[in-house]
Amino acid sequence: MGTFFSEQGWLCLTVTAVLGATILCRFKKSQGQVGRKVVCLAGLWGGACLLSLSLFWGSILFSLSCFLLYTYFSGQELLPVDQKAVLITGSDSGIGHALSKYLDELGFTVFAGVLDGNGSGAEELRRTCSKRLSVLQLDVTNPQQIKDAHSKVKEEVQNRGLWALVSNAGVLGLPTDGELIPMTDYKRCMAVNFFGAVEVTKAFLPLLRKSKGRLVSISSMGDIAGTSDMWDKLEKNILDHLTPDVQKDYGQDYIHKERSFLKLIKTSGEADISPVLLDIQHAISAKSPFALYAPGKMSYLWLCFASCSPTGIFDYVSKKCHSYGRHMPRALSTPNLKNETM
Ligand SMILES: NC(=O)c1ccc[n+]([C@@H]2O[C@H](COP(=O)([O-])OP(=O)(O)OC[C@H]3O[C@@H](n4cnc5c(N)ncnc54)[C@H](OP(=O)(O)O)[C@@H]3O)[C@@H](O)[C@H]2O)c1
Repeated sequence: MGTFFSEQGWLCLTVTAVLGATILCRFKKSQGQVGRKVVCLAGLWGGACLLSLSLFWGSILFSLSCFLLYTYFSGQELLPVDQKAVLITGSDSGIGHALSKYLDELGFTVFAGVLDGNGSGAEELRRTCSKRLSVLQLDVTNPQQIKDAHSKVKEEVQNRGLWALVSNAGVLGLPTDGELIPMTDYKRCMAVNFFGAVEVTKAFLPLLRKSKGRLVSISSMGDIAGTSDMWDKLEKNILDHLTPDVQKDYGQDYIHKERSFLKLIKTSGEADISPVLLDIQHAISAKSPFALYAPGKMSYLWLCFASCSPTGIFDYVSKKCHSYGRHMPRALSTPNLKNETM
């Protein structure tokens, strides 16, 4: 008790309180989603330090933790918008469309790249957004359109450069057995989701370098879910391309049931995409952005599981989650056909 009321004791407590308050102020300015949890943990940690160690060593340890947290929160602070220019590909619909509107509201100069410049998505952006937003015709698989879009952006941003490129355009395929997917779908997927993103990035990197800005690439663990019209189209496309032999081996029922996986994603998925928008805003604006974001509940855990678990265990779990774990191609589930194929 004597130590607690000593001069040294009061000094330690004052330093601890001042550091704690500084961290709280810094936290208020930062918008990192993990911030609140980190501050709670820091509070608990500070309490534990002071209770379990002597006041002096407890304060030293807590001060060190505060210094680290202060550095962390300084990096999470958002830079001023200051009409920074951002190009987003695939703004016709979905995340790209919502992001274009969101960044426009925040005051960014938005270049919304669209697949169809006369489509309803493009029209809506023109109608509802500010004059700062420009809709650009930009099919990421079309080198001439990439070149034209680059010239327009360059002319507009002049010496400021482009602050961020959000590579968002992507296409959906029916997640089914590799044997059933037509080669045209494999090629289209690579053309848009991979080569398109690479070509757009290469074209705009010099403008990004000028501003020392950001490149944000959006990818998926398989879940652009699409709409039921889109599923019809994908299913028809698969059936049209199958040879009679393969169609007989799998059976139409099997292919039809594959749609249930997309339906499951759509119904179980989170409809509110604001965590995605906030993470992209953070990637664009934070002083020290993270290298990887996984918005949405539990998505980080799934990512860790997919990266770290042994292949056999991952295969077993994903088979259980996916519809193909519950039904089999006709040739494998019908005894006679099984023997014929053997
Ligand atoms: N939704 C999710 O749960 C989720 C999760 C993780 C990651 N992602 C990723 O987020 C991105 C956007 O997904 P989303 O859910 O918003 O899907 P989406 O609504 O289908 O958006 C994709 C956009 O890309 C456009 N596009 C297609 N081909 C293009 C091309 N050649 N050039 C330019 N634009 C093209 C599409 O235009 P049309 O509308 O005309 O087809 C559409 O506007 C994708 O890269 C996806 O992999 C999505």
